[in-house]
Amino acid sequence: MELFDVYPLQNITVERALGAWVWDNQGRKFLDMYGGHAVISIGHTHPHYVKRLTDQLHKIGFYSNSVHINIQQELADTLGRVSGKTDYQLFLCNSGAEANENALKLASFHTGRKKIIAFSKAFHGRTSLAVAATDNPKIIAPINQTDHVVFLPFNDEAALEACFLKEGERIAAVIVEGIQGVGGINVATDSFLQKIRAQCDAYGAVYIADSVQCGYGRSGKFFAHDWAGVPADIYTTAKGMGNGFPVAGVWIAPHLKPWHGMLGTTFGGNPLACAAALAVAETIETENLLENARTLGDYLTNMLRDLPVTVDVRGRGLMIGIDLPPEKTDLRQRLLYEKGVFTGEAKPNVVRLLPSLALTRAEADFFLQAFSSL
Ligand SMILES: Cc1ncc(COP(=O)(O)O)c(C=O)c1O
Repeated sequence: MELFDVYPLQNITVERALGAWVWDNQGRKFLDMYGGHAVISIGHTHPHYVKRLTDQLHKIGFYSNSVHINIQQELADTLGRVSGKTDYQLFLCNSGAEANENALKLASFHTGRKKIIAFSKAFHGRTSLAVAATDNPKIIAPINQTDHVVFLPFNDEAALEACFLKEGERIAAVIVEGIQGVGGINVATDSFLQKIRAQCDAYGAVYIADSVQCGYGRSGKFFAHDWAGVPADIYTTAKGMGNGFPVAGVWIAPHLKPWHGMLGTTFGGNPLACAAALAVAETIETENLLENARTLGDYLTNMLRDLPVTVDVRGRGLMIGIDLPPEKTDLRQRLLYEKGVFTGEAKPNVVRLLPSLALTRAEADFFLQAFSSL
């Protein structure tokens, strides 16, 4: 059987990894400034992560959500402490799209309404409602097309106010990334997020903070939305949450009440996924990774801004977008094949840096040296 051919692939076969480094099957070594697509939060094969998962596997790998699974509560307690959201409720699922799907559904259940506000260049996943709230017509199948989603320009407070004024009573939720990832590393302004909070309060809508890519410490705060100083009603997390193990979360404010059967999943919250997520949260705490993301993020951003080749450098913490001039379209590929550095991209010519939050200064310097030499 052949694999369904959905990804354009680099001609590299990875075999093992450690920290911020990856080796291929020919023994070549690469610096991972891409974090396997913002997923590697604490570093590849971190010893605490490997131990927690291995220990858990020896105890029990899976049982259904029909019984008490204590490690779920242990995870919720730890995440509450690490993030400061101690009074939120946690629903565990498996991927970013699923987390957003559940968040939107929950908002609709809660409000009894159908309309969603999303923004230009947003990416929220590929399942039905998540993809409908994604600003990319190419990936929206005819069956996913719906007029329940209204797209507004990102960071446009006047457009947001006008939309609420017109149909505020019909709006169930506003969904927004704190820093748009796929869209090219666009930071939501603090006042925009504050305006979303205020409009949702005024009209009884639910503010959903998609933190799948920008959350889990990547921005230097636990949630990138936290920089605005106002809470969301729901946060969604995935990618960095399991450092590669599929696990996702919907973080739900106390005023949103559950009922049995409202949400559900077979695999969500299984003991292995919880062990992975706990290992990540514990490592973020013990290794002070939020501070590391802030410090190294500032360092990289400032150094990159000083380089003549960069047109613009955006982001927060270790979520950095670099605009390149049109004549440098091959820089990312050259970084990979000539210098051994993985990076991400966004169209048309943005290099995305999403490394492990445990990146060291020496590794940042290795990247800067490679980048500036091309
Ligand atoms: C902001 C954001 N939301 C949701 C998703 C979807 O996550 P997943 O691929 O785990 O479904 C992504 C994936 O890139 C994302 O960047």
